Amino acid sequence: MWEKKPVLFLLLATAAILVGTIITMVLPFAWVNTEGDRIATVTPYTPLQQAGRDVYIREGCNNCHTQTVRPLVADVLRYGEYSKSGEFVYDRPHLWGSRRTGPDLARLGGKYPDAWHYQHMAAPVSMIPKSNMPAYAFLKDNQLDPGYIRKCMDVLGFPYTEAEISALNGKTEMDAMVAYMQKLGTGIPKAAAAAVIGDLKNPFPKDATAIRAGEQLFAQNCAACHGEHGDGGIGPELEPESYQDAELFQMIYSGITDNGMPAFSALGSTKVWQLVNYVNYRKEH
Ligand code: HEC
Ligand code: HEC
Repeated sequence: MWEKKPVLFLLLATAAILVGTIITMVLPFAWVNTEGDRIATVTPYTPLQQAGRDVYIREGCNNCHTQTVRPLVADVLRYGEYSKSGEFVYDRPHLWGSRRTGPDLARLGGKYPDAWHYQHMAAPVSMIPKSNMPAYAFLKDNQLDPGYIRKCMDVLGFPYTEAEISALNGKTEMDAMVAYMQKLGTGIPKAAAAAVIGDLKNPFPKDATAIRAGEQLFAQNCAACHGEHGDGGIGPELEPESYQDAELFQMIYSGITDNGMPAFSALGSTKVWQLVNYVNYRKEH
């Protein structure tokens, strides 16, 4: 019978839609971003990091990279601890993104040394031969403008010191970008290093086939940082037999926390053992 009274019908329909809208769209604003979501260890960006973030937005890095680890097993195994809402309180706007042409960057901070980022940003293929990421070498030619960054910090209400602002003199957008990269995802403690399963006995000690397989794996995974023949670069020179096989396995498998030596557990233990055999028993060039 309501449908015969258009005005009343219209009012009731509007009220019904409004109630739905308030429950599903307005109330959540009161539920999220409350004090309960805050994480004490998450800090605002420094002026340098904030400048890098602005360049990230200008260059549209978020068209290829997400910044959120979803609470899915595959995501957590690949990138680490899933993202918490409280980690983004200082992200205005947030840069979660929706496309992963490149990998997620939410847990990037501390994964690589600064030097790796400088080289990778300037020429991604120099670090990852098959990379299709564009080069951003020009960032090192663009000087930062401390006055402009001071205004950004004021608008955002983030704390900064005069020393931090004057330290921006002479810095480039490249420095800012690397500082921003190293900040990502560091607001919460790193998950414990992957535990090694099974006993640590070299299954193919000094085996020539394993050394050859290790050589290939080294070229693909390690040479960018440790040099073509392990003679050093971003990472140190790797002398044969300076570590016991088991120790070496553990370092490659779990990485060396916060020093820029990534973990290679994703290769699986057979390949890591092949690498151990190559590093320890290769003939030096
Ligand atoms: C056209 C898509 C594309 C754009 C645009 C892009 N990237 Fe990438 N990025 C990739 C791909 C693909 C990879 C994986 C290969 C590699 O490491 O180079 C990658 C890798 C990375 C990595 C290494 C991540 C890791 O965990 O190994 C970083 C850091 C990075 N990109 C930062 C940036 C920044 C900063 C920008 C913007 C200045 C940017 N990318 C723009 C595609 C892109
Ligand atoms: C992103 C750069 C990077 C990549 C890729 C990388 N490493 Fe490292 N690696 C480092 C850095 C930096 C250190 C120094 C860490 C420290 O000692 O604090 C290191 C340290 C090491 C050490 C200990 C050396 C010593 O004398 O203390 C070994 C062994 C090692 N890496 C092996 C490997 C192997 C094998 C691979 C390939 C599977 C690899 N690394 C890939 C950066 C890298």
